[in-house]
Amino acid sequence: MLGNFSYCNPTKLYFGDDSLRYLDAELPRYGKNVVLIYGGGSIKTNGIYDQVIKFLNKNDKNVAEISGVMPNPTLDKLYEGMEIARGHQADFLLAVGGGSVCDYAKALSVSVNCKEDPWEKYYLRFEEPECETLPVGCVLTMAGTGSEMNAGAVITNTKTKLKIGHVFASESVMPRFSILNPKYTLTLPHYQMISGIYDIFNHICEQYFSGEDDNTSDYISEGLMRSVICASRIANKDPRNYEARSNLMWAATWALNTLVSRGKSTDWMVHMLGQSVGAYTNATHGMTLSAVSLPYYRFILPYGMQKFKKFAINVWDVDPAGKTDKQIAEEGLSAMESWMNELGLVMSLTELGATEDMLEGIAGGTLIMPGGYKVLDHNDVMKILKESL
Ligand code: NZQ
Ligand code: ZN
Repeated sequence: MLGNFSYCNPTKLYFGDDSLRYLDAELPRYGKNVVLIYGGGSIKTNGIYDQVIKFLNKNDKNVAEISGVMPNPTLDKLYEGMEIARGHQADFLLAVGGGSVCDYAKALSVSVNCKEDPWEKYYLRFEEPECETLPVGCVLTMAGTGSEMNAGAVITNTKTKLKIGHVFASESVMPRFSILNPKYTLTLPHYQMISGIYDIFNHICEQYFSGEDDNTSDYISEGLMRSVICASRIANKDPRNYEARSNLMWAATWALNTLVSRGKSTDWMVHMLGQSVGAYTNATHGMTLSAVSLPYYRFILPYGMQKFKKFAINVWDVDPAGKTDKQIAEEGLSAMESWMNELGLVMSLTELGATEDMLEGIAGGTLIMPGGYKVLDHNDVMKILKESL
């Protein structure tokens, strides 16, 4: 295990097909003025909105709403929400939706009482909040990002074409509680379901593909990856399978709630590439990752051969007998590629609307993270992006 670290995760989880009722236990802990935050309307169609409103009314809350939080929430939408929350003198932010809605609530939490511009403070200078943050609770409707139990909040500045995630160090930014009802994910369109599945898988990869030590986090990661592969195959054929969908929801949370990053340097370059693609195309997050992953992993494979070999054997059951390390490692990535095709993931940037003339801009907006097997330079990024077209 690398370095010295502390571990605390203050988010309380409520899980299961009847978990919304725990709102009744949580709501009395917070003030009267609640801002209910949600997306483009799926929660109204599937009935979750009505169920949540019932609990808010029962607890005598004074509710204002921020609706229309879009996938890949924008800075302009954040400014709009700050006005609403300030006008309502909000005590508590309740996010009901996917990662975009949860991220947005966290970004709002650190911005409502902030005297400075949140984009400059949090997304360009990566500072921590100095103001009082507002408590956030989440009712999750999509499995993927892990936003329900972490301090990440990704915001897109459409003017400067930068999509930036800030993972806050402050525990006060993490949701106080999150309600995870796997049944809520059953109404997700297939495209969103598989995008979320790949997001989960890639979060694990981003943390796994770093370091060469024998590390407990890697063993936990291998187990989580096997669970995601197994459940995804079932859910892909039978999306209403509760067992598979509940496994995916639980795996998503543990994939990015800070557990498997302990004792690791972590990579995150697939996400940096994917986020920059997202800023140019507004494509669905998980698909921006699937489109760049194989070119990236094939590029760094020679620098992290032993881990890619371990991945092949322990995650994809590649038989190592009589093969070189390189053959084993490459077979692992081929098995992953077959699985991605089987799910129906987007495997090229062209499919997401990216064109060759965007690549310099996308490369320029890609933050370089130093924790993986090779620190990329601009030429490497361009090579990977071209390979991904
Ligand atoms: O807006 P509505 O109408 O609710 O529709 C949403 C949206 O169109 C729909 N949806 C969600 N739950 C549904 C549903 N439709 C039917 N039934 C349901 N139960 O799905 C669409 C996508 O939702 P979104 O919240 O955008 O998806 P996701 O959970 O993938 O979140 C993506 C955002 O999270 C960020 C991404 O960059 C992106 O901005 N991330 C946040 C992370 C974090 N906090 O740690 C890490 C991730 O790597 C990621 O970067
Ligand atoms: Zn992600």
